[in-house]
Order: sequence, then structure tokens, then C-alpha cells
Amino acid sequence: MKSFAIMTMKGGTGKTTTAVSLAHGLTLSGRKVLLVDCDPQRNVAVTFGVKGEKGLDGLLMTGDVDIIQVRENFFIIDSGGRKLVEVELQLGRQERREGRLRDALKHLKGCDYVICDCPPSMNLININVLAYCDEVIVPVGMDYLSEVGARQTLEIIEEIAWITERSSIEYRILPTFFDSRTRISRTVMDDLREHFGERIFSTVIRVNTAIREAPGSNKTIYEHAPLSRGAYDYYKLTEEVLALEREG
Ligand SMILES: Nc1ncnc2c1ncn2[C@@H]1O[C@H](COP(=O)(O)OP(=O)(O)O)[C@@H](O)[C@H]1O
Ligand SMILES: [Mg+2]
Repeated sequence: MKSFAIMTMKGGTGKTTTAVSLAHGLTLSGRKVLLVDCDPQRNVAVTFGVKGEKGLDGLLMTGDVDIIQVRENFFIIDSGGRKLVEVELQLGRQERREGRLRDALKHLKGCDYVICDCPPSMNLININVLAYCDEVIVPVGMDYLSEVGARQTLEIIEEIAWITERSSIEYRILPTFFDSRTRISRTVMDDLREHFGERIFSTVIRVNTAIREAPGSNKTIYEHAPLSRGAYDYYKLTEEVLALEREG
């Protein structure tokens, strides 16, 4: 089993889109996937038009949680919305607060992948995710502020690795919202390549209107527009992630 966090402190960079599209892509390739919504905005649950009575809030506090099946081999845990915000505040006053998610999911069996869709902040929920996940995927939109957000996120991830007693946390950069017609896209891509080299996925997610439309009809990009550029790009990302599995 392998777990990924989709995380960056900058909002609107394609975290949820990536979490949902990668998770569904992996299930379409025959893997069994659990997608955990860690953002009080509940965008994963909203995308699928479902609601869990007991969400991540329950999992972190009592271990009690609804696992909702959304597609074949595809399961989600709702974030709990506002209840998750309350849990985050409560956790701050408790012992062993960083390892709750790790403890709760440690015995999870039968899944090939766990993917955590994270909020754009660095709070105790994200620290729990970092203590648990094998690898972090950092989506970076093709603009200056997203790039700055990614660097800030990686600095913090290093600190958290230390706090959570992990020697290091593996990460990979995913370029999103790429638009070849704009100079800023090319500039940011060049900068990313220079800074992060091997740590960047070869797949680049291009700007695509179909991606924006899909959640409105409770569909993923593969269902809403299977022949779109968005579906193609996320299919390629899925292939790249599966190749990592083969590398071990
Ligand atoms: N490649 C893309 N092209 C066009 N729109 C996108 C793309 N990726 C995401 N979006 C849209 O941009 C908005 C923000 O994306 P989202 O995945 O919710 O970001 P985050 O979770 O980082 O806040 C959403 O409306 C989403 O549908
Ligand atoms: Mg989101």
C-alpha cells in the first residue's frame, strides 16, 4: 500500500482536482483506492454528491468513520466540514496529536492507495497527514504566487519531517494550469525545472475547461469528458504514478 498527500499552502492550485482524478485513474487501472478529504471545504464529497455522517473528524477523535463507496474499488472519507475545524482545535489541547491519522489508518488493509486531499494551510490536520503519508504531491499553478507557495510548503514539510521524527518526506512537484500560450506558464515551468529538476513529474496538467465543469455533474474528468485534454493529462499522471510502483 502506498499513500500520497496532495498538498500545498496555496489555494486553488488543483489539489482537489488532482486528488480526485488521480484516485479515480488508479481505480480505472484496477487498483483499490481510499481518498481521504482532509479539507473542511468538503470538496471531495461535494464532487461526488455524497455526505458521510462520520468523517475524518470521527476517525481522528474516536476511530469511528463512514467509508463511502463512490465507484468500483473507489472509497472516500468525508472531511466532516465544520466538525473537522472543531476537532483540529480540540487536538491542539491533547497528547499525541500529530500521530492520530497514522494510528487510525495503520491497520487499514486491502487498499492499494490512500490519497489525502489537503487544505491550503499548515495546521494540525496537515501535520497528521505528513506524519502518515509516504509521499507528498505538490501541485503548482503556473503563476508566481503558486510557485512561492510551493517553496514555502516544502520548507515547512522539512520542518514537519523533523517534528514527526521522519528522516525526510519524499515529494514531487506537479505543474498545473499550464497554458502554452502564456509567457508566465513557460517562465514558471523553467523556474521549476531549474529548482526542482528530477522532483517534477514529467506530466504537466494543462488548463482545460472540461476539468472545471466535471464536478458540477458529480463526475470525474474521465466520465465527464473522456477525450478531453484534462482526462488525457490525468491519465498520464496516473501512468507515471503506477510506474513509481513498479520502480518500488
Ligand atoms: N487544469 C485545470 N484547468 C482548468 N480548471 C481547473 C484545472 N484544475 C482545476 N481547475 C479548476 O480550478 C478550481 C480550483 O481547483 P481545485 O482542484 O479545487 O483546487 P484546490 O483544491 O487546490 O483549491 C476548480 O474550479 C477546478 O475545477
Ligand atoms: Mg481543494
